[in-house]
Amino acid sequence: MIGRNDPCWCGSGQKWKKCHSPKEPPTTEQQKLAQHYYKNYRIVLKTPEQIAGIKRACKLAAYILDETCKKAQAGVTTNEIDALAVKLHKENNALAAPYHYGEPPFPKSICTSLNEVICHGIPNDVPLKDGDIMNIDVSCILDGYYGDCSRMVKIGEISPDKQLVYDVSHECLQRSMEVVKPGAKLHEIADAIEDCAAENGCSVVHQFVGHGVGLEFHEPPQVPHHRNRIQIPLAAGMTFTIEPMINAGVAEGKIDPITQWIATTRDGKPSAQWEHTLLVTETGHEILTLTP
Ligand code: MF3
Ligand code: CO
Repeated sequence: MIGRNDPCWCGSGQKWKKCHSPKEPPTTEQQKLAQHYYKNYRIVLKTPEQIAGIKRACKLAAYILDETCKKAQAGVTTNEIDALAVKLHKENNALAAPYHYGEPPFPKSICTSLNEVICHGIPNDVPLKDGDIMNIDVSCILDGYYGDCSRMVKIGEISPDKQLVYDVSHECLQRSMEVVKPGAKLHEIADAIEDCAAENGCSVVHQFVGHGVGLEFHEPPQVPHHRNRIQIPLAAGMTFTIEPMINAGVAEGKIDPITQWIATTRDGKPSAQWEHTLLVTETGHEILTLTP
């Protein structure tokens, strides 16, 4: 149930009692669905106006990801790439969502996760070198709306196990996005990822999940990439990420006790990840973090 002091199901950010309830019950079918999704799952189905704002944030995130990936070459440090991201956020009147996010506050504006780092790598002064693979993760806030995406880059010649996770994580994301349409169950996303990883002898990280995104950085639902039984049907207006982390060895990771952020594989074998923000539409889905 929605309490009178809970945020309204419409995503206005106002209290339910001050917004749509009880004086203004949902009228259209989409509003009824939105109330159902908020009551049952705390998922906000976005309005056309919210979708327009989220699309702008996603386009900017994809653009910044493009530019930072272009800069990723041997000899360049991840701090230099972070500095480029800072500049591009500023130029576009946006904020980097990771900056000072969480506890302890994330210290940089993007995540740069190399080789055995699963995710939440912190930019530093070590130059990239031949044989590295790296995920760059860009999340930006534009006019209060959020967009989130990440991608892998290769530096020079890479080993076969790095090439494997590079390719398989990409194929896992592609195949999982294909299932996204109204009525598909949330677990079908993970089914597609697990099947693809298993076919290629790779493992799927459990510890970190995709997530609703748009009005906040991380909103319901969680979108696990590993096998699960979540029966929530996808519905038009949902916006969420899929961001599978695929390992060459074991699925388990460990978190660096010093930074409390950097997650690496337990066996030190390589890991790779790709991420998009998606919108569920009446007929299927739209990938919001593509560049033209
Ligand atoms: N795409 C990642 C996520 O959804 C970005 C993490 S940024 C951090 O969590 F600040 F949390 F590190
Ligand atoms: Co994300």
